[in-house]
Amino acid sequence: MGKIILTGDRPTGKLHLGHFVGSLRNRVKLQNSNEFDEIYLMIADSQALTDNFDNPKKVRDNVLEVALFYLACGIDPKKTTIFIQSQVPALTELTFYYMNLVSVARLHRNPTVKQEVKLRGFEESIPSGFLNYPVSQAADITAFEGEIVPVGEDQLPLIEQCREIVRKFNNIYGETLREPEAIVSKNKRIKGLDGNEKMGKSLGNAIYLADSDEEITKKVMGAITDPKKLKKEDPADPNVCMVYYYHKLFENENIKVVHDECENGTRGCVACKKELINKIIESLSEYRKNKNYYEQNPEIVDEILKDGCNKAKNKAMEMTKKIKQNMKIDYFE
Ligand code: TRP
Repeated sequence: MGKIILTGDRPTGKLHLGHFVGSLRNRVKLQNSNEFDEIYLMIADSQALTDNFDNPKKVRDNVLEVALFYLACGIDPKKTTIFIQSQVPALTELTFYYMNLVSVARLHRNPTVKQEVKLRGFEESIPSGFLNYPVSQAADITAFEGEIVPVGEDQLPLIEQCREIVRKFNNIYGETLREPEAIVSKNKRIKGLDGNEKMGKSLGNAIYLADSDEEITKKVMGAITDPKKLKKEDPADPNVCMVYYYHKLFENENIKVVHDECENGTRGCVACKKELINKIIESLSEYRKNKNYYEQNPEIVDEILKDGCNKAKNKAMEMTKKIKQNMKIDYFE
């Protein structure tokens, strides 16, 4: 069995810097390491529908946004198969079989599900599709024999759930499924410019990839710095400053200088912020150029997605055949 990566994203919400320097940079690095035999990157539209079933347009529009984002960030369709979850019917089929292996109580106990239920106001009445999305995520991973699953920390309970399903399945039906391992992209959750632990729409502290240079400038200028520093000459602690934190995220090659000058009181916050703004805009320029290219050539994106969906469909179908054989539901094979 080859070394296989599978991961994915729900196509909801606007993409921000956290997606850019967090998960995507890491995935492009993994892709270009050439250490993996197969890499699958899934746009999880079916999963997105579990809590957006009443807003199909939002999900559909975001599928394209996410695809453009992947390509513009350097995901290479020759190395990584990009596909759309709903176009791979085997995933829904497997979900139904795996549902037998998980109790409702266990799903209710899943910390990520619990948190999301609260966030979405589902406490009174959880759609059963939503409650079961961890099961469908186990189908996603095992259908592709995913061994390595690069995710943010919030996804760990879902990978654990998948591992439980795998063990139970193999116990009952014989050794069939591969037990995956998560690798946590440490920057997936980046802090907001206001120092909040999370950058996000609801918190109003995010820099979006679609922001103009002026918006980026305005947002960075408002970032939280060391409150003890009132004048340029005041020595400060870079470790409590969000501007320093972002310099690190953007891999500023002079990071030591930034640190020392801040500490010595030889660097003013305004100059420091301006340097960061330039760095962010510079990093985004390649992305914007690429995104623009794909936007101008939608037929290329279409072809990539169609091809990816086909490849994914075949791979998942092969694996599902094996699974059904072991479950003794392969009547006419
Ligand atoms: N739950 C993931 C998210 O919210 C998306 C996802 C769906 C996924 N299936 C997956 C991630 C399988 C990793 C593996 O972004």
